[in-house]
Amino acid sequence: MSRLTRRILPALAALALGATATSASAQNFPTRTVTVVVPFAAGGPTDTVARLVAEQMGRDLGQTVVIENVGGAGGTLGAQRTAVARPDGYNLLIHHIGMSTIPTLYRRLAYDPINGFEPVGLITEVPMTIIGKRNLPANNLQELVTLVRREGQGINLANAGVGAASHLCGLLFQSALNVQLTTVPYRGTGPAMNDLVGGTVDLMCDQTTNTTEQIRANTVRAYAVTTPTRLSALPDLPTASEAGMPGFEVSIWHGLYAPRGTPAEIVTRLSRALQVALRDPGLARRFQDLGTEPVAQERATPAAHRAFWQADIARWRPVIQAAGQFAD
Ligand code: MLT
Repeated sequence: MSRLTRRILPALAALALGATATSASAQNFPTRTVTVVVPFAAGGPTDTVARLVAEQMGRDLGQTVVIENVGGAGGTLGAQRTAVARPDGYNLLIHHIGMSTIPTLYRRLAYDPINGFEPVGLITEVPMTIIGKRNLPANNLQELVTLVRREGQGINLANAGVGAASHLCGLLFQSALNVQLTTVPYRGTGPAMNDLVGGTVDLMCDQTTNTTEQIRANTVRAYAVTTPTRLSALPDLPTASEAGMPGFEVSIWHGLYAPRGTPAEIVTRLSRALQVALRDPGLARRFQDLGTEPVAQERATPAAHRAFWQADIARWRPVIQAAGQFAD
């Protein structure tokens, strides 16, 4: 045996063993609890989507799938947690349209907001609703438009930080009306909703997975939904277009991610569990009751998610640059 062979053989053997171990771990995956980070506070719209999906994925995977809420900084702290986690399939992230806006909004992040992740699959697209505190002196969207144009920064607009869906919707709302409101950031729109119901904050644009039940309970004023047509879950709520803001439409998609470098076989297994979860009739009913629905099966795949996400980053970049509001 040559001297060179003697030197490289152990390295080749180690590589082969490593590859075998990875393949074996991928074939047996999962063998323990899977953690899904939600980058916003518990009780909010993203948390609601994530818990419904995690429960069903756990059934298919045969392991518990737990949710870890890591709020703050518009959803970037939670995203960072997953981007730097071990790429072994046990550390996942459920995030939303913020994954498309954060790369433009934030110019200094401690993680790579695009290349730090393996998209696993899309989950759902959720409409937004424009809601106010019960005693806000505006009975409909047109009166609200008049009020915010008159009061400007005298109106407090709640959101979950720069990069959140509520921030994006608030940005578009202010741009459409050419007004500047005072924004009040929270670690999620779950806590923000408490202050809106309590009347200590005036206005919010938030996902139906957080607002539908409050609207039905009449604890907030509902002005409009941001979809082209009315929702079966909220049939009496007009669309923004019909209520006085033609073309004001925003839809918040959610997706599942693993850290970059997670073995492809594991990403595929996770995508399969996601697709099974999204076929569950109970989950579909719960989503419909909250004004949304699971995406079609072919969208809950890594390739479809990656293509959609890359196009969405490009779509939002000029919109955010035009608004000129960046995180730092
Ligand atoms: C949440 O779950 O708190 C929301 O998704 C925050 C947001 O994006 O507005």
